[in-house]
Amino acid sequence: MNELEFYNQQFKKYKKYDHDRSYVSAPSFDSPEGYFAHLVNLYSNTKNTLVDLGCGDGYFTSKLAKFNATVIGIEPSSLISAANELLEETKLSNLSFLQEDAYQLPFDDNSINLVISRRGPDPENEVFRVLKQEGHFVFITIGEKDALSLKEIVGRGQHFESRIKVSDELKIKYRKAGFIKIECKEYLYHEYYSSKDALKEFLHRVPIVENFSKLDHSSIDTYCEKFTNSRIKLERHRVVLLAKKSS
Ligand SMILES: C[S@@+](CC[C@H](N)C(=O)[O-])C[C@H]1O[C@@H](n2cnc3c(N)ncnc32)[C@H](O)[C@@H]1O
Repeated sequence: MNELEFYNQQFKKYKKYDHDRSYVSAPSFDSPEGYFAHLVNLYSNTKNTLVDLGCGDGYFTSKLAKFNATVIGIEPSSLISAANELLEETKLSNLSFLQEDAYQLPFDDNSINLVISRRGPDPENEVFRVLKQEGHFVFITIGEKDALSLKEIVGRGQHFESRIKVSDELKIKYRKAGFIKIECKEYLYHEYYSSKDALKEFLHRVPIVENFSKLDHSSIDTYCEKFTNSRIKLERHRVVLLAKKSS
């Protein structure tokens, strides 16, 4: 199953993307989501056009409408229907969602002030093309150590094969695309699940282990054996990138 099929399936099953729905209104540097939100807020401006790549059901995107003149979410999967439903509910006149591919954006060169991606795609050349001079790209993504001990037992998962340091890879990629100022901040932390079933349910809903199915449940039971109390620990790793297009 490719990525698009996965998100189409998520929409079919749950009518939304069941993600961490936290929108951090008072961002702090202590957490990856907080730091990401801090950067998005910092470069938002009531005269700006902001584009959110891979906006999913549009929940996070919608929160940015009051800080920018125009906000556009890009989403190729059926989750676009959930985003458009949200748009109808919120009636925000400066917010819109387009069913498009982030690698072929329907925008002119040098036309966008701020491009963001919250665990969505990061098409560096296309982002560079559409950004205005002095424009920023803010991206939060999964690091190579994310859920590593679990992936070692299951035998697969995001970044499992490559083990390349995601932050190094991003820095090289964005420099090559022409960005001048590039900064990466890494976050290693733990998440806790109350039971084996809660962890399995989570893994069915996210792309950490591709094509996660009932056949993987026994591996998850093995992973959970090392936790004697009901707190099942999962290692998480996030990388936040800030890239600026300068003249
Ligand atoms: C992990 S989800 C994040 C959704 C949303 N940004 C959030 O934080 O809830 C990744 C999203 O990126 C979208 N995506 C994948 N490939 C894409 C592409 N080429 N162009 C635009 N979006 C894409 C997926 O369909 C999915 O909705």
